[in-house]
Amino acid sequence: MNVTVHVELGARSYPIHIAPGLLQQTERITAALGGRHVLLLSDANVAPLHAPAVRRALSRHRWSETVLPPGEGEKNLDRFGEVVRALAELGASRDATLIALGGGVIGDLGGFAAACWMRGIRLVQMPTTLLAMVDSSVGGKTAIDLPQGKNLVGAFHQPSAVLIDTDTLATLPDRELRAGLAEVVKYGAILDADFFAWLERHAEDLLAREPAALVEAIERSCRHKAAVVARDETEQGERALLNFGHTFGHALEAEQAFAGLRHGEAVAIGMVRAAWLSARLGLSADADTLRLVRLLQRLGLPTAPPPGLDPVRLLARMRLDKKNLSGALRLILWRGIGQAEIAEGVEEGQVLKAWSAAL
Ligand code: NAD
Ligand code: GLY
Repeated sequence: MNVTVHVELGARSYPIHIAPGLLQQTERITAALGGRHVLLLSDANVAPLHAPAVRRALSRHRWSETVLPPGEGEKNLDRFGEVVRALAELGASRDATLIALGGGVIGDLGGFAAACWMRGIRLVQMPTTLLAMVDSSVGGKTAIDLPQGKNLVGAFHQPSAVLIDTDTLATLPDRELRAGLAEVVKYGAILDADFFAWLERHAEDLLAREPAALVEAIERSCRHKAAVVARDETEQGERALLNFGHTFGHALEAEQAFAGLRHGEAVAIGMVRAAWLSARLGLSADADTLRLVRLLQRLGLPTAPPPGLDPVRLLARMRLDKKNLSGALRLILWRGIGQAEIAEGVEEGQVLKAWSAAL
């Protein structure tokens, strides 16, 4: 079950290695590092479980470790300051490496610090959540949140390598596994009807953490992500499709002050809202929306916003989405399973209805 997927970006191409026990392979880790300095960034849940193997590989380096409290609420300017100050204290030079060991929060925040320190140092992503393995560790989007919205401050900064040790999933809480499956479903929904059907056949295997099913889901997701990023690294077009459900989802996350739904859960709700809106606009069939709802529900994911959130406030949040141009909403909708597209000028009244639609 050793697989390598390549992200082809010319001189900045890099491998995504996927295998059980990868973090125990010292030479794999050292091969990914740059010069003498290494900052190992992780969070307080992940570090006790998975940092010891990484530390063992750093014996020939000058390194330090920063461990942050876990959670989306920490992906902020203050924590960013803490990480770049740690790089300063380490005396990290331009050939230093930042290792991001954790979920998407650590990967996005660490990636942004790596992008900024001395205008860019080496970044090695070691994702430990399913979500980070299939999405956030690949493709070079790095960012932090502001109270006003998700990922508003960031940079494109590709990693030098992504090391996916699938054994780390053994310690991942069920809720986080399910949240990651939402991003897996996204690839089937937007690009690959066959993969969507495969997910329908293997939903229970995935929930049971059956290793072969998990590796296949990770590999197929990474292949899709790598291909899209290779064609459109900085989101001039096609890459925006990867944001299916995200304009809705990010609004939910921000409205809950990044302390409510998990990112993947918000995306699951957002994909269903986008599918409903697509059907309402005559782009897709209700049957496709229902298939999406059923699959997400089987995977234990929410499909409707939590009670008490005001659709008008959620719509206001959507106006600050990065995909919007000149203040007009741009959404990712679909023509059915496997066929997403960018929609310009969707009427806000329809979006409001999508928030409240019963499904
Ligand atoms: P996360 O990083 O908060 O991790 C979820 C939880 O799982 C945390 O409590 C963490 O401590 C814990 N955890 C992580 N690995 C573990 C393990 N192996 N065992 C036990 N506990 C573990 O959240 P996430 O879902 O990984 O990532 C969400 C973030 O990713 C969001 O900020 C989102 O915006 C971002 N994201 C970025 C991109 C991108 O392209 N850059 C894509 C998708 C999502
Ligand atoms: N997760 C969206 C992207 O990488 O473009």
